[in-house]
Amino acid sequence: MCGIFGYVNYNVEKTRGEISGALLDGLAKLEYRGYDSAGIAIDGDAPRETYIVREIGKVAALRKKYEATGYNQDVKFTNHAGIAHTRWATHGEPKVSNCHPQRSDPNNEFVVVHNGIITNFKELKTLLTNKGCTFESETDTECIAKLFKYVYDVNIKNGNHLNFAELMKQVLFEVEGSYGLLVKSPHYPNELCGTRKGSPLLVGVKTDKHLKVDFLDVKFPDIENSHAINLSKDNLGLDALPTSTSTLSTSESKTLQSEDGAPQSSEFFFASDPSSVIQHTKKVLFLEDDDIAHIANGELQIHRATKDDKLAATRSIQTLEIELAQIMKGPYKHFMQKEIYEQPESTFNTMRGRIDFENNTVTLGGLKSYLPTIRRSRRIIMIACGTSYHSCLATRSIFEELTQIPVSVELASDILDRRSPIFRDDTCIFVSQSGETADSMLALQYCLERDAFTVGIVNAVGSSISRGTHAGIHINAGPEIGVASTKAYTSQFIALVMMALSLGHDSVSKIERRKEIIQGLKHIPEQIKKVLALEEQIKELCTKDLTEQKSLLLLGRGYQHATALEGALKIKEISYIHSEGILAGELKHGSLALVDDELPIIAFATRDSLFPKVISAIEQVTARGGRPIIIKNEGDSGINGEKAIAVLEVPQTVDCLQGLLNVVPLQLISYWLASNKGIDVDFPRNLAKSVTVE
Ligand code: UD1
Ligand code: F6R
Repeated sequence: MCGIFGYVNYNVEKTRGEISGALLDGLAKLEYRGYDSAGIAIDGDAPRETYIVREIGKVAALRKKYEATGYNQDVKFTNHAGIAHTRWATHGEPKVSNCHPQRSDPNNEFVVVHNGIITNFKELKTLLTNKGCTFESETDTECIAKLFKYVYDVNIKNGNHLNFAELMKQVLFEVEGSYGLLVKSPHYPNELCGTRKGSPLLVGVKTDKHLKVDFLDVKFPDIENSHAINLSKDNLGLDALPTSTSTLSTSESKTLQSEDGAPQSSEFFFASDPSSVIQHTKKVLFLEDDDIAHIANGELQIHRATKDDKLAATRSIQTLEIELAQIMKGPYKHFMQKEIYEQPESTFNTMRGRIDFENNTVTLGGLKSYLPTIRRSRRIIMIACGTSYHSCLATRSIFEELTQIPVSVELASDILDRRSPIFRDDTCIFVSQSGETADSMLALQYCLERDAFTVGIVNAVGSSISRGTHAGIHINAGPEIGVASTKAYTSQFIALVMMALSLGHDSVSKIERRKEIIQGLKHIPEQIKKVLALEEQIKELCTKDLTEQKSLLLLGRGYQHATALEGALKIKEISYIHSEGILAGELKHGSLALVDDELPIIAFATRDSLFPKVISAIEQVTARGGRPIIIKNEGDSGINGEKAIAVLEVPQTVDCLQGLLNVVPLQLISYWLASNKGIDVDFPRNLAKSVTVE
């Protein structure tokens, strides 16, 4: 999805080349989110001049275009504010005029970068057009830039010199929808204003001395004295405008001072995602919805766009733990490949410090004190999208077995479409790698409104779902950058199994089963390593037998139904080959008609109680000339692989954990099918890493 990056240097001398370099590098770190165009805005040579450079395609193309502008890169700025953006087209196709920054007018009096969607942009556009504005793009964002100028001009005519934050507050009063937003203006030189509603935004802080505080006070608005221009009532006449200036100039917000109170040099970084800030500073402040962050004169102040007493009156400055090295590709060709290979480590990290393999106990710090509440629930509802949904399906059965609480698994968009009844004695588990998926967020909102107890199983610490749920488990898989989710799936799977084990703690009848599962988990990382050794065999299979394939079926039963669905999703999203996961028991009810000697069928025939039934399904396939690819346990002689295209052997584990091993060959198959076709697997067409729109 779209990415935002902003950079302010105060009392620190930087050349234009360094500033633009920081902005472009910031964007490059956001590339993994998927985008189709990019742009930056920086100060020009003349006073009050703003340069905007935008280009469709990758950040590298923008860099090239920027370098070709001939701007003097050696000009020095002791104070400066710049903004940058990667865009994923929603309103208007990817073309230069639709790239961000969007501007208010040909003089670039206000330039804006924006993530999200402005839902009343048509109404705003009509109103502003009637007021003489000429629109240059098809974006919803442009109306924000124009609105800034309009509100600014009207206030000036009325003798109101608003500060930047107060101006933004008046603008936001007119805007509906979701946004992460950053604005730059020569009327407020070297300042930036940022805000968010439903779209993430954070501020990184870098100072030359130790910070005196690790939190900031929030300035709440004085509602009685606040003024705004009400566009919707069409009272745009100048006489309808506020006559008094804001109270913000007397703001009590704490500023970032050094311990000795001396003015200090500082750099600030706005970003939609911490990965672009981490190389500069680990000190970050996550904005809440409706926060306005205003940076001016080396100070960061947080204001509220609305009065909301429920929110804390301070925002803490946190220290990010991730390392830059973690978000680099290392020796691998693609992030996806790297992440598949990271699974022995990432699955181990999910369990680290949480499972005591000697005493067969599980302790989840984030859930411990909530287990009685969850045990009292009438039912558990797992809610997620895509791959995360499959990890729920894969663990539903063991969840029910260990907890004896009914579990249903729901797609986030579907539970909302149905307006399904949710009660206060329900526990709703939200599983999400990014923690920002719009459908899952909306479903979370829906369940919170109905007073359900909510639990997050999330990878991204500090994400909206992680912060919005009552409690949860961070899966600790490390940043996942490839669009196709791989290591997050296996870690989510383990986190859910650990949760089931924690909930079932009291049950004596389950002691042996719990022990077996915990000991099974202990060996998963090394067993995944063994499965990864299949890569050469899989590469050959994909190169020789499957490259020309138009379609693939995957057959699984019981625990392996979810693996079949997840394998099919991986193949279709990365290699663009149609594939379908089928419950083996359903084969004879329709899909068997597809079977011939051309359609490859991947069958999961690892050992569990349903093994004989899977064998019978494979026989149904081979009897009709079909040639399966069989995934079976190492050394299992109970399967006749004579008619198979290939037999892939994986280690055996406990039945309910076998999916953790069986999914890995499918991740590798999808990777090699795509890689052989020359597809950039980290950026498959039409997809983005974090789906923050409905
Ligand atoms: C926490 C620390 C970890 C430290 C460990 C030591 C964090 C993020 N984790 O891990 O660095 O090593 O203590 O004891 O500080 N939560 C939600 N929703 C979610 C996910 C988590 O509300 O979707 C909450 C949890 O309930 C908990 C907190 O976030 O209050 C941290 O969760 P988690 O990282 O899983 O906790 P620990 O494993 O204890
Ligand atoms: C598939 C994939 C998607 C995501 C889905 C949910 O490989 O990555 O199906 O699983 O968009 O995303 P998260 O887990 O971030 O909520």
